[in-house]
Amino acid sequence: MPPTPTPPPPAGNFQSGRQVFVTVGCSTCHRADGTGLVGPRIANTNLSFAEVLGQLRSPREGMPPFGPETVSDQQVRDIYAFLKSLP
Ligand code: HEC
Repeated sequence: MPPTPTPPPPAGNFQSGRQVFVTVGCSTCHRADGTGLVGPRIANTNLSFAEVLGQLRSPREGMPPFGPETVSDQQVRDIYAFLKSLP
């Protein structure tokens, strides 16, 4: 079996995650490959899903908030799976 990313259950879909990441503009600050630009590198992040969700819903300074009307919890799961799929 090839190695696969291990997102938390229920699993996120990293392909839709990649799409959402670009569509809602994460890639503007974090680059499409998550290596960072204005924002830090988040490719293959060590943060937990809950921490990433928390950062979107009430971010620290420098990052705009992304509420559930913009990115649903499921879409954040997809983004998380995408980030974990990156080198
Ligand atoms: C306007 C630029 C900008 C956009 C857009 C943006 N971010 Fe950020 N992001 C930042 C900055 C700046 C930080 C660092 C905040 C700090 O530590 O003070 C950050 C931090 C983070 C962190 C925490 C990283 C760590 O190691 O602590 C995560 C996760 C993250 N962003 C994910 C996302 C996701 C997912 C999106 C899209 C939904 C997004 N960001 C959109 C600028 C941005």
